[in-house]
Amino acid sequence: MFVSLEGPDGVGKSTQVALLADRLRGLGLEVVQCREPGGTELGERVRALLLDPQVEMSDRAEALLFAAARAEIVEQVIAPALARGAWVVCDRFIDSSLVYQGIGRGLGVEAIRDASLFATAGLLPARTIVLHGVARRDAVPDRMESAGEEFHARVEQGFLQLGELDPARIRLVDAVGSEAEVAERIWSALEGVRP
Ligand code: TYD
Repeated sequence: MFVSLEGPDGVGKSTQVALLADRLRGLGLEVVQCREPGGTELGERVRALLLDPQVEMSDRAEALLFAAARAEIVEQVIAPALARGAWVVCDRFIDSSLVYQGIGRGLGVEAIRDASLFATAGLLPARTIVLHGVARRDAVPDRMESAGEEFHARVEQGFLQLGELDPARIRLVDAVGSEAEVAERIWSALEGVRP
């Protein structure tokens, strides 16, 4: 089973990915935890380029680099894990590209969806949890975090609109509350795909 967690920077995704993976492991399941971009040799190098504030890049190049990192992690990590029946819990996936590049950069959700589905050979998560309600940015911003307030406002709005794009797959979850409370909401929102 493949699930992804999404949301703006600083919404607490990484903590929740770890809590969810632990809970599933506690049920005796094999769980592969990953984060995007990264998780492969190519992906980590591309990630370094994408987040480096010293590197200038066009919006289209940025979109294709995220897609390239995604293609690699699907081929090397996610598809093999799913083939052997493991769970995959991914911190960001295709929807981050729809929102950051499609809406935030204004490249268009359709175009970015096509590029991303080409990258994943059509693979999508069975369920995607979008966390919303809190946003905290790191003290030392990376290249994406330095993209400006308007960009991030578009991203935050974009995440809220995501549920409408694919209501069967995407669930919005309120991230305001204790870690345990949010974890419980996520667990409920996984009903239908989780054990
Ligand atoms: P990361 O440090 O992993 O952010 P976070 O901890 O908030 O998840 O950096 C990933 C950054 O890249 C983040 O700002 C979101 C952005 N991003 C995109 O713009 N498009 C994408 O397709 C992905 C996967 C991430």
